[in-house]
Amino acid sequence: MSEFMSDIHVIDRVLTHIKNGTTDRGKDVWKEPVGNYASKDRLEAERALFKKFPTPICPSAALAKTGDYIAYAAAGTPLIIVRGRDGIVRGFKNACRHRGTQLTEGTGCVGAFVCPYHGWSYGLDGALLGIPHEDGFPDINKLEHGLAEVTVFERHGLVYVVQDEGIDNPESLIADLPQFFTEDQDFFGKSEGVIDSNWKLFLESFIEGYHIKPAHSKTFYPFGYDNLNVIEFVGAHSRVTYPFRRIEKLADVPAEKRDATGSVTYLYQLFPNVIIAQLTHHTNLGILEPLDEGRTKFTTYHMTHSKGQSDKETALANAVKDREFVSQTGQSEDIAVVEAAQRSLLSGANSHFTFGHFEPAIVHFHQQLKAYL
Ligand code: FES
Ligand SMILES: [Fe+2]
Repeated sequence: MSEFMSDIHVIDRVLTHIKNGTTDRGKDVWKEPVGNYASKDRLEAERALFKKFPTPICPSAALAKTGDYIAYAAAGTPLIIVRGRDGIVRGFKNACRHRGTQLTEGTGCVGAFVCPYHGWSYGLDGALLGIPHEDGFPDINKLEHGLAEVTVFERHGLVYVVQDEGIDNPESLIADLPQFFTEDQDFFGKSEGVIDSNWKLFLESFIEGYHIKPAHSKTFYPFGYDNLNVIEFVGAHSRVTYPFRRIEKLADVPAEKRDATGSVTYLYQLFPNVIIAQLTHHTNLGILEPLDEGRTKFTTYHMTHSKGQSDKETALANAVKDREFVSQTGQSEDIAVVEAAQRSLLSGANSHFTFGHFEPAIVHFHQQLKAYL
C-alpha cells in the first residue's frame, strides 16, 4: 500500500493552488556545504550508504525471461543481475572465482556464464559448474567457489539490490512505496549517458519545480506552471507532482471521476540515487551512479503505459514520441544548467548552497542523507 496521496487528493490540491496562486512550501531552509559535492571522502561515505540501502537496479520487465541478465556497476561494484531457471532474480559480483576477471558485460540472455579468461563456467544460480582441465586443481571445493552473491529482490515492479549489511530490515525502508510497474507495461528501451556533474547536483534538478519557467521556458513551461507543485514524503523518499495546464479542465469534473493521467507528471525520488518519472505516455526509471565526485552515469529504463492506451502498438508509439520530446528538450536543458553549476563549483563563490521554501524535496533529501551518513 502506498503512503502517497491518491490521485484525487493530488488533483484537488493542485486545483486549490491554481485558484489561490500558491504552491506547497517547506518549513526549513537548508544550507548544504559546497565541499560535500566535491569531497572524495564524502563520496566514499555515500557509496557505502548506496550499498546498504535497498536500491532499484532495473525494472523487473528488463529481466523478463530465464537467463536475462544485466551487468551493471552499482556504487562502484560490478554486478550481474540474472533471472534463474526457477524464475527468481539473483545478483552476483561480476568477478570470476579463479582469478577475478569479469564474466560478462552489457545485457543479454544466457544459459550459463563462461569466463573469457580460462573458461570456468557458472550457472544462473551462481554455482560453479565446470573447470577446464580440472585435474590442475586437485583440492578445490566447487561448492565454495560459486559466484559471490548479493541480496536481490523484486518489489513494486522493480529489482532492488542490497550489497552490504548494516541496516536492520532494509526492506522496511521501501515498504510504503507504490507499485510502480505492472505486468501490462512493456520495457521498450534503455538510455545511458554521462553527466559532467556531481550526482547530487543532477538529482536536485529533478525534484523542484522552482526552475520550470527560467530553465524550460519553451519546452515544459508552455504546458505546465512555474513553481506550482505538490510535494510529499514517504520515509526517506519523496514525490513531486508537476501539473499540466490542462488539469484546469478537471475543475468541472466531479472529484471522484478525475483522472491524473495526462494531467500531472509524478516525479518520485527513491532515496538515495534513483528517480522514477511517470509522464503522460511513458515512465522512466533513472539511476544516478557516481563515477567520481564530478561525473555521474545516468541509466534510464523506459516503460510503456497501458492505462488509457487502446492497444500495445499504440501504447508503444505514444511512449516513443513522449520519450523523444522529454529527452530532446527538457532533459538537455536540465543537464546544461547542472553541468554549468559543476564548472563553477570550486570557484569560491559559494561556501554552501541554500535551498529555500520552494525546494523542500531537496531539503528532505539532504536531511535524510546527513542522518544516514
Ligand atoms: S579468471 Fe576466470 S577462468 Fe581464470
Ligand atoms: Fe528541469
